[in-house]
Amino acid sequence: MQQKTLAEVLQNEAAANGLDDKLAKLIEAVAACGVEISSEVACGALLGVLGLAGSENVQGEEQKKLDVISNEIVTKAVLATGVVAACASEEMDHCVAAQSSERLPYLICYDPLDGSSNIDINVSIGTIFSVLPNPREDASAPTDVDFLQPGDRQLAAGYIMYGPQTQMALTFGRGVMLFTLDPRTKTYVLTNDNVKVAEQAKEFAINCSNMRHWEPPVQRYIKELLAGAEGVRGKDFNMRWVAAMVAEVHRILCRGGIFMYPRDNRDPSKPGKLRLMYEANPMSWLMEQAGGRATNGHVRILSIQPEKLHQRVAVFLGAREEVELVTSYHNAA
Ligand code: F6P
Repeated sequence: MQQKTLAEVLQNEAAANGLDDKLAKLIEAVAACGVEISSEVACGALLGVLGLAGSENVQGEEQKKLDVISNEIVTKAVLATGVVAACASEEMDHCVAAQSSERLPYLICYDPLDGSSNIDINVSIGTIFSVLPNPREDASAPTDVDFLQPGDRQLAAGYIMYGPQTQMALTFGRGVMLFTLDPRTKTYVLTNDNVKVAEQAKEFAINCSNMRHWEPPVQRYIKELLAGAEGVRGKDFNMRWVAAMVAEVHRILCRGGIFMYPRDNRDPSKPGKLRLMYEANPMSWLMEQAGGRATNGHVRILSIQPEKLHQRVAVFLGAREEVELVTSYHNAA
């Protein structure tokens, strides 16, 4: 096993690939938030941080205390770096601009604590982040519109998962690195420097309780998977559902598979459940960088021009052959 720390990896990236020291600083700050959040999560009831906060976020979802705490930790830390012009969070109605008289180079989007329904039952949750360039050429404060850039423009993206171990997946567009937090030294150590997702899969993840609401291409695809060795696919598939995207993506990065959260007929005004800017874009970039694919059923997620900060999107990501197959079913319909 390699033993490079995150700091050493960032130094190498700077020397070998010209990683900007300001971007390295931002990643270090996000990683440090992960150390803090992971300790809050690990203490749980001992710190009184479980349960509802008694408020709702912009999407009308009940906030848990840890959603609010994590949002405060990340927001404060990224604005304090002096390299972030504005930040946008799944938990805040609008972006927050830094107070600065000079132009700062980055915007950052995050879901401070993904998989909220797992918080109180001690199951994996995580922080997802996506760094974009600040499109403003002067020091004026960015607004929500400045964030509406396709995922292809991301400069860095990743997640920190709080599970049995705290792990961070990170990409700068040169493959995917996986770090494990050593809780004894509070240091991230590189434990896989070249994460790859197999092109074929034998495991899928989807919330099957919504089956009756799915569109015909998804119904067809899942029916074929469920038919197993006796059906047209001629092989058996296994199913998993953790109900935290961060944990599903992590499983796929570790042992393959496909994850889906399709749009469905429950509320035709919502093109899916997951958020494009905070969840789908960073996870799609990680998948592509690991050799997988990510579409909304029709096109690459990373090519979508966002129209709203809190925009939702259908997501099919993971093993190349499976994502291409379910996408072809949509495009043939
Ligand atoms: O952010 C939404 C989220 O918690 C994802 O992390 C997860 O994949 C999904 O919702 C779970 O949805 P459901 O509760 O419908 O299973």
